[in-house]
Amino acid sequence: MKNIPVVMIIFGGSGDLAHRKLYPALFNLYEQGLIRDNFAVIATARRPWTHEYLRGQIADAVHETHTEVNENDLADFTQHFYYQSHDVTNVGHYETLKELAQELDDRYSAQGNRIFYLAMAPRFFGTIATHLNDQHLTSSGFNRIVVEKPFGHELASAEKLNQQITASFAEDDIFRIDHYLGKEMVQNILPMRFTNPLIKNVWNNSEIKNIQVTLAERLGVEARGGYYDTSGALRDMVQNHIFQIVTLLAMPEPKDLNASSIHEAKQELLAGLIIPSEAEIAQHFVRGQYLGSDTTFGYLQEANVAEDSATETFVAGEMKFKNGPIANVPIYFRTGKELKEKKTRIDIVLKHRSNPYGQAHSNNITLIVDPNMEIYITINGKKISQTGIRRENLDYNFSKDELAEVPDGYERLLHDVFVNDSTNFTHWSELQAYWKFIDAIESAWQKADQAGQKPAQYLPYRMGPKEADQIFERPTEHWIYE
Ligand code: BG6
Repeated sequence: MKNIPVVMIIFGGSGDLAHRKLYPALFNLYEQGLIRDNFAVIATARRPWTHEYLRGQIADAVHETHTEVNENDLADFTQHFYYQSHDVTNVGHYETLKELAQELDDRYSAQGNRIFYLAMAPRFFGTIATHLNDQHLTSSGFNRIVVEKPFGHELASAEKLNQQITASFAEDDIFRIDHYLGKEMVQNILPMRFTNPLIKNVWNNSEIKNIQVTLAERLGVEARGGYYDTSGALRDMVQNHIFQIVTLLAMPEPKDLNASSIHEAKQELLAGLIIPSEAEIAQHFVRGQYLGSDTTFGYLQEANVAEDSATETFVAGEMKFKNGPIANVPIYFRTGKELKEKKTRIDIVLKHRSNPYGQAHSNNITLIVDPNMEIYITINGKKISQTGIRRENLDYNFSKDELAEVPDGYERLLHDVFVNDSTNFTHWSELQAYWKFIDAIESAWQKADQAGQKPAQYLPYRMGPKEADQIFERPTEHWIYE
C-alpha cells in the first residue's frame, strides 16, 4: 500500500471516539503501510496531558481492541503521536498548534499535507472551523477535514456550519462522516441491487410493495442523556444513518462507480424526496419514549434528561420519492433505544402474485447489517408429503474467517480519507435534503407539543410503542420483523 505523508490533527483527542475507534483504526492502517514513516498525529483536548501519557493511552486503546499486537510496531506507532493541550476558543492555542504542525511536517517530511478531524462535541465544530481559517492552519499540500455527526441541528445551523467550513475547505475536501457507510452490509446494498438480475429486475414500483428499515438498539441513552435530550432518535439516527441506507436502496443506477457518479445518482433521487404534510406526519409517524422497569430507569429518569422532556427515544415513519426505480413505494423505518435486541435490518417486501396454489407467500429480500451479516430471500416450494406450499430462506452469509477479515467502519472510512475517496461520505446537497425532511417532522412535533401531546410510551426491550404498528398506508401492510 502506498504510504501517505500527512500531519493529522484530532480535535477531541482525549475523547471516547478517538480512544475506541480512531486510534485502533489508525494502528491498523499503519500495520498495512498506508501511514508509516511520514506521518504524525497531534491529539488536542483541554486536559493537560503529556506526549508520553497520550502514547500510553494509545497503546491501551490498541490493546483493548486487538487480540494480537506486534509490540515493536505499536511502540514505533505511538512515537508518531503528540499531545497539545488546546482550548478551542483560544486564538493563541491555534498559533501554537500551527507551529507544532509545521515542525512535525518538517521532521516527518509530510509534504504540507494535513487532515483535520473534528471528533469533539458538535457545538464546537463552527468555532474550530472559523479558527482554522482565521489562523491559517491549512498548509501547502492537501488539506482535508473530517466532520463527525451531527452536522448542524437543523437546516439553518447546518448551513451556517457549512459556510464556516467552506471558508477554508473545498466541498471535495470535506468528509462528513457517517459510520454506517463504512459497514460491510451497507456497502453491499449497491452490489446486491445491480449485479443480480434476479434482484435488479424486481427492483421497481410494480414489484416492490414496501421497504422496511429497522435500526433497533438494546441499550438506553446511558451516559449520553445531555446530548441525547437535545437530539432525539430522529436527529440521532434518521437524519444520517437511516437516510443513507434509504438513499442506497432507492437511488437510480449510477453510470459507474466513481464517487462523483454515486453522488450524482443520490442527488438525482433526493431531488424527488417527498416532504410529508402535517396530516401525513400525524398519520404515518410515531414518536415514543421508553418507560422504566424494576431494574432500569425510564427515559425521563435518566441523568441529564429534563423530567418533562418530549424528546423521542423511538421513531417510526415513512419516506417516499417522486423518482428513481421505486418512485412512490412506501419506505417505512423505525429506530429506538431499549428495544428487543440490537438489530439493523432491511426488508424488501415484494408484491404478492396470485397463482394456482393459492396460499404461497410473497418473496421478501432481507438484508441484515448488524449484529450478524446476512442476506436472505424467502422462497416457496412444495411440501414433501402433503399438499401445500412450504417457505424456506435462500441464504447468503459469511464464514467465520471472512467475518474476522471485515474491517471496522471507522478503519474503512479513515482509509478513504487518506486516499481521497469520498464515495462513502455525505455530500452537502444530500445533507440539505435530509435536513429539510427532518425539519418538517420536528416542526410538526413542536406543534403537537404545544397542543399538549406527548410521545407514546413503550415498555423496554420490546419493539416500541404499539402505535408504530399503525403507520402503514394500506391495511395489508405490517412489520415483517416483529
Ligand atoms: C450513533 C448514535 O451515531 O450510532 C448512537 O449517536 C447509536 O446513539 C449509534 O447508538 C449506533 O451505531 P451502531 O454502529 O452501534 O449501530
